[in-house]
Amino acid sequence: MPSPLPAGSTSIDPSRVAELTAAEHDLFERTHPRSRELFERARTVMPGGVPMSWMVKWPGAFPVFVAEASGAHFRDVDGHDYVDLCLGDTGAMTGHSPEPTVATVREQVGRGITSMLPTEDSVVVAEELRRRFGLPLWQFTLSATDANRHVIRYARHVTGRRKIVVHDHCYHGSVDETFAGLDASGRTVSRRGNIGPPVDPAETTWVVEFNDIDGLERALASGEVAAVLAEPALTNVGIVLPDPGYHEALRELTRRHDVLLVVDETHTLSAGPGGYTGAHGLEPDIMTMGKAIAGGIPAGAFGMTEEVSDRINASIELEDIDVGGIGGTLAGNQLSLAAMRTTLIEVLTDEAFGRMLPLGDRWADGVDAGISAYGLPWNCARLGARGEYTFTPDAPRTGAQAAAAGDFELEQLLHLYTLNRGILLTPFHNMALMSPATTEADVDRHTEVFGELLGRLVGSVQA
Ligand SMILES: Cc1ncc(COP(=O)(O)O)c(C=O)c1O
Repeated sequence: MPSPLPAGSTSIDPSRVAELTAAEHDLFERTHPRSRELFERARTVMPGGVPMSWMVKWPGAFPVFVAEASGAHFRDVDGHDYVDLCLGDTGAMTGHSPEPTVATVREQVGRGITSMLPTEDSVVVAEELRRRFGLPLWQFTLSATDANRHVIRYARHVTGRRKIVVHDHCYHGSVDETFAGLDASGRTVSRRGNIGPPVDPAETTWVVEFNDIDGLERALASGEVAAVLAEPALTNVGIVLPDPGYHEALRELTRRHDVLLVVDETHTLSAGPGGYTGAHGLEPDIMTMGKAIAGGIPAGAFGMTEEVSDRINASIELEDIDVGGIGGTLAGNQLSLAAMRTTLIEVLTDEAFGRMLPLGDRWADGVDAGISAYGLPWNCARLGARGEYTFTPDAPRTGAQAAAAGDFELEQLLHLYTLNRGILLTPFHNMALMSPATTEADVDRHTEVFGELLGRLVGSVQA
């Protein structure tokens, strides 16, 4: 999920952007009559005409309505085919409806969906997560958001401390404690757009800049911090990669101050079969994930060390275990676990990543080629099967730098232009993700369309 980006300088003439955008809106509306019809009907029964409010933010006067999706493509209700480089912002990183997961789900639906009892699948999945990510003990939720909510509660519970540290411009789902940011003077404040916070986030949260080791040390030395909740690389404000040594410092400082280190791998799973943690040898105390791990069937998971598990077990009475704020009736249900088992063991395999990672590079190579052919001061970041370009010459090192490089109008144009030519990018970002079903031809189609748009914009590149 995204964060709003302010308008920024991109070296592109805004009037050229406005002119091209108007033409793309016109094209979009002319070629999507059936989506418009459904949207008009939808508006009478859903606020904004969408099943979830943020879907109004897709570029275009109305969203594209999907007829069917398969592998790396989907078809809309007007019959257009799209290369899906958004893939449900990772929920469909497996490709849409991967055959093995679909077969398992079909079968499981007829054999029981939920019963509040464990199945053998839960054991197999936990064993597989341990093999991939290194943490020995696992629990299951219905979303990554829930996994993050639960581990924050546990962290506060076992440490007796009230705050968590997050990075500026992070996103970890709709988790109250994470809707905080830094103001100009470096104070933790409620984040722009924060809807109905239960308390001032400064009460619960200490925000530090990504890659700011001194800031991190100041926060942890306060003695108020239960846990650091961190993506290994920021992925929701553009991609911001860690400086060499940042993760080592994060681990050393959290250990020194007895603060739990929670790594959220929901998006950085793109780095490889064991996520960024596996690819770079991180040693978190707790790990969270969701989205792709059950092929799109709702599922989340969190893993922990034996030590964290012992601390939790020693502090919670059996009698209270269902009423303390951890759980959910459907969490760990038969269907989610069956889908997770097949997705992890048969779909998101080492071999699949062997195909996805080079495709991520191929996509970024195509973007880099366009950027350099037109002499634009932009750069493209790579995170395994994921890539993202930013309107700034150097890779941003902090969330604030990435946010300052954003340009909402230009992004809307890039998204609408590519959409009109059969390519869906991750909304509100310039991000693309490769699935096991994505092909080189899919990637090359993006390279072609991206280059074509730059050609139409470049007349306005300023000296
Ligand atoms: C890093 C990260 N963690 C957690 C989440 C929450 O995922 P969900 O909305 O599926 O619960 C997101 C969503 O975008 C995310 O990017």
